[in-house]
Amino acid sequence: MEDPSLARVNQHYLDRVIAASQQRDIEASEDIYSENGIKLLSKGARISGASQERLILHKLKKPLESCLSVSEGIDANQLVAIGQQVIESAPGLAPLFNDFGLLPRLRDIPLNPATISMLTVAHSHDPRMLPHYVLVALLALGLGRRLKLTETELGVVAAAGLLHDIGELYIDQRHLDRSQVLTPEAWRQIAVHPVIGHKLAREVCGMPDAVAQAILQHHERGDGGGYPRGLPAKELGREGRVVAAAEMIASLAEHGEHPLERAEVALRIVPIEYDPDLVSVVSQAMGECRPAEYRFAPDAQDAERTHALFSRIGRALELMNQIQHELPQREPASRQLYDRAHRRFGMIQRAFSSTGLDLCGERKDFEQLLGDTSGWLQFEVGLVLGEIRWRLRELARDLAMRATQVSPAEASYFQPLVDVLHDG
Ligand SMILES: [Fe+2]
Ligand SMILES: [Fe+2]
Repeated sequence: MEDPSLARVNQHYLDRVIAASQQRDIEASEDIYSENGIKLLSKGARISGASQERLILHKLKKPLESCLSVSEGIDANQLVAIGQQVIESAPGLAPLFNDFGLLPRLRDIPLNPATISMLTVAHSHDPRMLPHYVLVALLALGLGRRLKLTETELGVVAAAGLLHDIGELYIDQRHLDRSQVLTPEAWRQIAVHPVIGHKLAREVCGMPDAVAQAILQHHERGDGGGYPRGLPAKELGREGRVVAAAEMIASLAEHGEHPLERAEVALRIVPIEYDPDLVSVVSQAMGECRPAEYRFAPDAQDAERTHALFSRIGRALELMNQIQHELPQREPASRQLYDRAHRRFGMIQRAFSSTGLDLCGERKDFEQLLGDTSGWLQFEVGLVLGEIRWRLRELARDLAMRATQVSPAEASYFQPLVDVLHDG
């Protein structure tokens, strides 16, 4: 995975700074020098489109992010106000926020001028970003309190939650549009945002190493299926795992109803992805707000979609077997790719089996099985199926990105499997 340097000004970050400078004053908080000592901007100089060329052409002595100050930048009061709105707009997460006095804790996150300028640029660029950052910080605190983390650990998860996606400021906006099908190149860029975030937190925001580490690990999974490093559970820190779970729950809350129920399924579907403690904490929170009845009436379309998923898993299995047969004639890198995909696919398959739907062969069997259960069970099966579809897509992306990194030949060899896994 590439290690981005902060000495070179990132084009995408600079574009966002310049766009933000049209709404508020952004100026050099000190003289800005190139690496070889040329003064590029004087202290107090306004940042504008005209500064762009000068800044982008040179390596800087100090990261640009540390040399900017913004007027009317984000402060602790605004974080708390955003936190209040975020809590009110996510009633489905209430048990994780209740009783803990979480909001005032946002004030304890140390914000140096560089952190304020980056948060302000992020907010100015896309007003959805700061509510997402704050939601992750609050969820990490809520989970952390239930897990009985120490005060120091709570401070770490709050700061890491707030800054977890700060590295996305370095990514081309087109790649962040979740409605687009990601190309391997786009996915490769996205996969590096935790690495950038880690570097920014340590070198620019002045955060302790534990905060930077938790940011680096916020997309890792205990089964080794995450990114950027694909680390196993034993190499992940507790704070990183809390922020990863908070981030996952936040994205569920931002995209639909019943976030805690969906989170509970997502957390336990592949048993070693998340800490068992986290799973029980979320199960417990879910139990506290469970409605008396779940309205979920599967229809013929659900049966159709489930049958399609059944066929897709079957086709993927056939392709896996074919690849396994041919592995002796291929590069060693192919075996590693195959092993990783095979291991993760096996876990998804087991999750599918847990629903009992893998025993159905005909469409009418699905209709019958989905129709026979009631209330919570139907609802839960629906959640599991949704999660399985999502996991297959994630696996497709991961495989496509890693195959491209090996060689174009590997990318095309694995493409039929990627297509089947991705086809939703
Ligand atoms: Fe995020
Ligand atoms: Fe992220």
